[in-house]
Amino acid sequence: MPRTVVYVLTCLLALASGYVDQNVRLDCYPDPGASRELCEQRGCVWDPEIDPDQNTVPLCYFPQGTGYSFDNGDDPSHVRLVKTVGSPRNPFDKDFETLTFSQSYLGATLNIKIFPSIPRYEPPVDLPRQASHSSDKLSVVLPSKPGNFSFTVRRQSTATDVWDTAIGGLLFGDKFIQIATYLASDKMYGWGENTHQTIKHDFSRYKTWGMWPRDQPPNSAQDNSMNLYGVHPFYMGLEPDGKAHGVLILNGNAQEVTTGPGPHIIYRTIGGLLDIYFFPGPSPGDVVQQYLALIGKPMLPAYWGLGYQLCRYGYKNFAEMKSVIERVQNAGIPLDVPYADIDFMDRYKDFTIDWDSDWKDFPAYVDKLHDEGLHLILIWDPAIQADYDPFKRAIDSNAKFIEWPREDLVPHDIQDKYPYAKDTKVMLGVVWPDRHVGFPDFLDPTNATHEWWINEFKLYRETIKFDGAWIDMNEPANFGTNVKHPWYFDNSDHPNDLPLMCPTFGPDADLDMPGYKTISVYQYPNTYLASKTLCMLAKTINGTHNFYDTKILYGWSESRSTQQAIHESTLQRGAVISRSTFPSSGRFAGHWLGDNYARWQDLRTAIIGVMEFNMFGIPYVGADICGFLGNTTEELCLRWQQLGAFHPFSRNHNTIGAIPQDPAAWPDVAQAAKKANLFRYRHLPYLFSLHFNASLVGSTVVRFPFFEFAQDTVTHTLDHQFMWGSAIMVIPVIYEGATTVRGYLPETSDGWYSLYDAEYGNNIEAGFHGFEAPTNYLIPVFVRGRHIIPRQLPETTTTASRKNPFELLIASAPNGKGGYEAFGDLFWDDGVTIVQSFDTHNYYDVSFAYAADSKGAKITVTVKKQASDVKLPALQYLEIFGYESVPNFDTFTVNGAAVAVDLQKSSYSPFTKVLKIYAKDIIPDGWTNNTIFKVQWTNQ
Ligand SMILES: *[C@@H]1O[C@H](CO)[C@@H](O)[C@H](O)[C@H]1NC(C)=O
Ligand SMILES: *[C@@H]1O[C@H](CO)[C@@H](O)[C@H](O)[C@H]1NC(C)=O
Ligand SMILES: *[C@@H]1O[C@H](CO)[C@@H](O)[C@H](O)[C@H]1NC(C)=O
Ligand SMILES: *[C@@H]1O[C@H](CO)[C@@H](O)[C@H](O)[C@H]1NC(C)=O
Ligand SMILES: *[C@@H]1O[C@H](CO)[C@@H](O)[C@H](O)[C@H]1NC(C)=O
Ligand SMILES: *[C@@H]1O[C@H](CO)[C@@H](O)[C@H](O)[C@H]1NC(C)=O
Repeated sequence: MPRTVVYVLTCLLALASGYVDQNVRLDCYPDPGASRELCEQRGCVWDPEIDPDQNTVPLCYFPQGTGYSFDNGDDPSHVRLVKTVGSPRNPFDKDFETLTFSQSYLGATLNIKIFPSIPRYEPPVDLPRQASHSSDKLSVVLPSKPGNFSFTVRRQSTATDVWDTAIGGLLFGDKFIQIATYLASDKMYGWGENTHQTIKHDFSRYKTWGMWPRDQPPNSAQDNSMNLYGVHPFYMGLEPDGKAHGVLILNGNAQEVTTGPGPHIIYRTIGGLLDIYFFPGPSPGDVVQQYLALIGKPMLPAYWGLGYQLCRYGYKNFAEMKSVIERVQNAGIPLDVPYADIDFMDRYKDFTIDWDSDWKDFPAYVDKLHDEGLHLILIWDPAIQADYDPFKRAIDSNAKFIEWPREDLVPHDIQDKYPYAKDTKVMLGVVWPDRHVGFPDFLDPTNATHEWWINEFKLYRETIKFDGAWIDMNEPANFGTNVKHPWYFDNSDHPNDLPLMCPTFGPDADLDMPGYKTISVYQYPNTYLASKTLCMLAKTINGTHNFYDTKILYGWSESRSTQQAIHESTLQRGAVISRSTFPSSGRFAGHWLGDNYARWQDLRTAIIGVMEFNMFGIPYVGADICGFLGNTTEELCLRWQQLGAFHPFSRNHNTIGAIPQDPAAWPDVAQAAKKANLFRYRHLPYLFSLHFNASLVGSTVVRFPFFEFAQDTVTHTLDHQFMWGSAIMVIPVIYEGATTVRGYLPETSDGWYSLYDAEYGNNIEAGFHGFEAPTNYLIPVFVRGRHIIPRQLPETTTTASRKNPFELLIASAPNGKGGYEAFGDLFWDDGVTIVQSFDTHNYYDVSFAYAADSKGAKITVTVKKQASDVKLPALQYLEIFGYESVPNFDTFTVNGAAVAVDLQKSSYSPFTKVLKIYAKDIIPDGWTNNTIFKVQWTNQ
């Protein structure tokens, strides 16, 4: 048939059947098994022209006009929607006939809600919900005529529609809700937790991403959309002019998002309601600040938590761990937190130590580590074996566990083996310990669970003096749910405990077998919503809620209780990292990117993951350095140590059975790790200040370069470089065998200077470069002009580094008036005190301003806020990039008084234009005498 004939026929077909262009379709068969017959039974349109092997276009799609209608006589803040006559029915559930569409503002944040008249589940996360601020506004525009309902969200300043739901497809049943929208552009960043190969989503095809917590190692070697440990239904969009907005769909059920070439998205969830927040930006940083005003700003980790961490699963014994720590220290590699995985426990039970082995010496060793200024993080899995004291104390104190809904469902062949659990409905599962385990319900409203957990931490700390907590397996992970022969039956280190079986048919299977299960189920063979976790019909929150609704919050709620437990048991700030997270988890914990593989692909996706989690409000984040699963290689480990030194949470972690991968395992890796970590430790005052500011005002620590250069479209697709705050650009080596790296320095009048071995201190032009990157150099790092970075001479612990004199790195930039300028800040506190409130917290806030011209230079140090009982070490050293004249060191004064410059240690090069000034007391120890220090000199 000639093409034109096909075209005419297709158009005729379109008129007859509601044909929709292939680029803007809404899949009517997102579940497996589509056929023409089944598709048409759903009232949808089947496209016989599509070859599903050739492309991702849905074969079965909703016709135009699917959705709800409205009568525009309504109050626009509360519009009544009615299911459109003739619209296809919801394929998976019965649609509510009427809905309410409401809109309101929290400051500049627009909140749209769509809900039926009966109450619906909303995730019980106690968000701060502070009003946000913006120089711009997003408004809702409703159609001028009654009829099919849609809305747009329009930016006031530019009339750009960031959402336009005229694409149709609104469906709202009890266990299947869908909304679709056109987007302003294809520049969408975020949604999580998934492994993204690029920072920007790919809208050239249809792709569905699952969001449902799962104990699932990220697989970066293959394009996939697997749902990982946490859920973050948040994205940032960049509009064609570079303005940024953000969108959060606050929903606590299994959910997914499909991207399509419209560009459009289809969001589906199987519970709750549509509670959508729009953040107007207009800069990316504004969006994050507005988002965090709603969900809460991140916790501030202890200063030592920014030190280097070394861990592994599968230390053969304690002696091996000790010797590894020793060789890393002997190699001069900065190290703050050495720890072990579950190996030190008595048969993997929380709150125990294996006293029958050499791990009995672990607690005393920890005291020695403390004496040397090191710290300890320990691991906790949430599940508690049902037959020992912590479990008994939980039951005795009325702590709650995830439970079976009815006594008759309790499997007594399992339950009756455990006297403490026998007469309870605690849903017993299987994790690392030898016998069955219960899962504490951290959402328990009576607080008994929370208080029991805190008490266990206090009791345990009498045994071993941990400083922080690593909470693992809190999706929560359960082994072998609904599997007759689970993997641990074939593992010699685990008894064959009967696995947990959930009802999968009959009246009790409503929640475990809903009509639509999301791609988080469909993409794995033989999978249920309960796979690797507990049954959906389980009860939580004192019997008031189904686990179906609250599972997403398990890691979030455990993080909240664990932060409190660390505070109360250590009486210090500490640090908590959690595997499973949800919006606002950052208030309580950081995150590591889970059980990654020791592969180059995983090194690359880690760069993206760390930037994304910063955008999600969880800046204390990093990937396991050198890779967790599988055997690393010397070169990969070397490059990963160099990269990981720039991740806020910087930990090398290895799995059982893998070759050793501590950085001292190879001399070259040791050298590279030492160099990279010393760089990190030297710049910790800056990294800490970034964390402090993130906690104080809601900013990011690691940033996508487009956060700073949204107008430079090259940055919109820069996948493998990142920034520390606004000042430092890191361009890691990401390919095997590479000795140069292609990287980009955005166009800016600020300029860039090299901060690594090649051309240190030199001005580097903006644009693409092939940067030198041999393994014995740092990876390419650049400082942006107009910025001042506080730093300190590094030591091999943060405890020692903190005591060293301060330095300022000043990267000057033209001030437009023939002179030069730069600015910076320092936040500083004792590094350990719990931050109850920044209003009462004891901290320094110091700002630095530099101005220079042909006559001389002046640095104004302003102590904006002074802490009592916290001493700032003396400022002794200034390093200035881009200094254009020859200085006269004899003219150096501070607040008008002459200060002697140490000429041995000071220098100026007219070629590199790097000026170094060393003086013993530019600002003396304590910084006490003044709140403003004026440091000045003249030129020759
Ligand atoms: C409104 O929806 C109906 C029912 O699906 C459909 O027939 C009609 O074409 C739609 N109208 C518009 C303007 O899309
Ligand atoms: C917990 O549930 C019990 C039994 O239904 C009830 O008596 C109690 O008031 C509930 N407590 C809270 C805090 O909801
Ligand atoms: C639980 O603790 C919170 C915070 O401390 C408190 O506000 C609440 O009243 C407590 N609830 C009960 C039932 O004790
Ligand atoms: C890692 O190397 C060790 C020692 O050579 C070997 O026993 C193990 O099987 C390797 N692991 C993998 C996943 O290849
Ligand atoms: C803190 O973050 C805000 C918001 O991103 C930013 O405007 C400010 O410059 C930052 N301050 C410091 C000291 O970094
Ligand atoms: C700064 O103050 C301390 C006491 O707080 C005093 O001993 C010292 O002489 C002062 N230094 C200067 C330079 O004024």
